[in-house]
Amino acid sequence: MKIAVIGSGGREHAIAWKLAQTVGWENIYVLPGNGGIPRSFSVSISDFAALEQYCKTENIELIVVGPEVPLSQGIVDYFRPTSIRILGPTKAAAIMEGSKIYAKEFMRRHNIATSDFELFSNVDAAIPYIKSKNGDCVIKYDGLAAGKGVFVCNNMAEAEEALSEFRETYGNEANFLVEDKITGDEISIIGLTDGKTIKLLPPSQDHKQVYDNDLGPNTGGMGAFCPAPFYTESLAAEIDRLIVQPTLAGIQKDGHDYKGFIYFGIMMDEYGPKLLEYNARLGDPETEVLMPALDADLVAAVEAAINGTLNDVAWNWHSGYFVDVVLTSGGYPKSFSKGLPIKGLEDVDNNTLLFYAGVKRSGEDLVTDGGRVINVVCQGATLDEAIENAYRNCNKICFEGMHYRKDIGRRKLKNTY
Ligand code: GLY
Repeated sequence: MKIAVIGSGGREHAIAWKLAQTVGWENIYVLPGNGGIPRSFSVSISDFAALEQYCKTENIELIVVGPEVPLSQGIVDYFRPTSIRILGPTKAAAIMEGSKIYAKEFMRRHNIATSDFELFSNVDAAIPYIKSKNGDCVIKYDGLAAGKGVFVCNNMAEAEEALSEFRETYGNEANFLVEDKITGDEISIIGLTDGKTIKLLPPSQDHKQVYDNDLGPNTGGMGAFCPAPFYTESLAAEIDRLIVQPTLAGIQKDGHDYKGFIYFGIMMDEYGPKLLEYNARLGDPETEVLMPALDADLVAAVEAAINGTLNDVAWNWHSGYFVDVVLTSGGYPKSFSKGLPIKGLEDVDNNTLLFYAGVKRSGEDLVTDGGRVINVVCQGATLDEAIENAYRNCNKICFEGMHYRKDIGRRKLKNTY
């Protein structure tokens, strides 16, 4: 079977790598992919009719969608009536990620553990409410914002700064919410669902800030690891009871057609787990550790999710731990240079996985072409061993200005679980 993976980053490389274990790389098409991902083809993914034509010409039978934008634009709705099968939520269901206001109202409607919030459509009108919280709150733009619409504030000065940045970006009249801040440990719980059953991937943690100890501005993710060692059976049961199962029930009650990956961004404080957000897709960089950790036939699972028979699918995780360290361009997430030669790729250990993100080809060589450049992924019997393996291999790669965090997998917990 020929399969297309939609997207162009490390997440899509990891998905394609996992699907290729079943069907072989020769049957994978990564659209548009990048210069480092095998079988990347430069095809526009926003013109669905042209994409359909391309898939038909290449006899592609199945599409797996990586990023949120095509899902929110209705790629699943477009392909459903065609002969090409597609995994992902419909446009109406992808609103669980596309609108932060919809998501919070969904959580409230279905009694899903989350923080309190208020809705606003005018920045000035929100100021008295934010003052009543002493600025200790989270301000979230309603729409998709490529990870940039969330402002976490600790006091009024930070809230005022956030509001002026918000105004500059989205205007004074924009839909947003102000929610109570939860402080604790964050975890990414991601599963594949057919709308009735969910098969969870190992619990993972992202590292969003650019510098060690979670300092500096947010990025698209500087690294991830799984499984999170603090994820006890009782915590898993709580998350299932308070968040995962009520979400599935809510999807069914609201009549959503949701066959795809679903991502629960969860914060745990001393009172238990609370849902921060949904993503209607796999996370990045979490996928780069989750795909190697998954001990299952992903093609069979994707087909079962589309058919509504996910309950029958064998689904296990490999033992040990998986760590992804993201090598980034110097200056990222602000401005950075591109086109810098990448050296040492052939020196990494045989069992190291390199999932490419911001790279392109320059003749036979790879050069940098984005902020996040390469995901270096290693396994270990223990988390320490996986971390050591990942950093040993990071040290073999270099490009001018290369930056990476040195503390992936080493975050200290704020609570005990
Ligand atoms: N790792 C966060 C995200 O994929 O949105």
